Amino acid sequence: MLYLVREYINYRLKAKHRHGVHSPFVYKFNNECLRLNVDRASRENFKSYFKTLRGSTSTIEMDDWGAGSKKLGTTRCVSKIAKVSGTQGKYANLLYRLTRYFEPENILELGSSLGLGTLMLHQGHPSAHITSVEGCEDTHAFLLAHHPLKNEKNVHFCRNDFLSYLQQSKNVFDLIFIDGAHNQEMTLKILSKLKFHLHEETIIVLDDIRWSTDMLKAWHEIVHDSTYHLTMDFFKLGIIIPRQHQAKEHFIIRY
Ligand SMILES: C[S@@+](CC[C@H](N)C(=O)[O-])C[C@H]1O[C@@H](n2cnc3c(N)ncnc32)[C@H](O)[C@@H]1O
Repeated sequence: MLYLVREYINYRLKAKHRHGVHSPFVYKFNNECLRLNVDRASRENFKSYFKTLRGSTSTIEMDDWGAGSKKLGTTRCVSKIAKVSGTQGKYANLLYRLTRYFEPENILELGSSLGLGTLMLHQGHPSAHITSVEGCEDTHAFLLAHHPLKNEKNVHFCRNDFLSYLQQSKNVFDLIFIDGAHNQEMTLKILSKLKFHLHEETIIVLDDIRWSTDMLKAWHEIVHDSTYHLTMDFFKLGIIIPRQHQAKEHFIIRY
């Protein structure tokens, strides 16, 4: 816990607003994408789904995928999963802003859980094709029965483990949200498999980069990896873009 406090102080000291950023791409991203308004209907839809989940008395039997949440057992209340594992607040808004700004056609989410992130990814750019992968059988069944996008033609909730999915899929994605690999080994394995599914401008959002010291090590390794020429640290999550045509740069972004 102490390391988190130290990390946060460091982050706040080094994080830059748009005026401290000298890359035209990142300046524009900061100025335009991060300041986008989340439209009222999208905010209301998100609030309403979150409220339904928080009021639910259902439980889910969790399979043992990854390190999982530190705070929950194997039989978990939907309401608690939404609170502890679901994307919320400014990070949910960031997903919306990213898809609205970059207009990705093909999106991959690794780790659907209750689909809070999926909802925001979709609302930012409703015509995008989204594949959201979830390993836990019960969670996947819950999504198919209750998610607001369950009948949406271009949103596909897929039950698989991340590595098998990446092995089988031939798709190339414009935006990838990795939200389920909670350790260094798994994160680096996923990134190595992802190389076949990327193009120069693919935006990879890696959640929970400071979830543990192990995850932080993975993040530092990624920042120094010569495959990725643009990395941005948002404290809770990191954004990675190959952009090999530009000089390698790393930014700490105030958000
Ligand atoms: C933090 S939650 C995802 C939250 C969700 N993206 C959101 O925005 O609300 C992580 C999910 O990933 C799933 N998961 C973790 N490791 C996995 C793996 N290796 N394969 C498939 N699913 C996995 C877990 O079952 C869990 O539901």
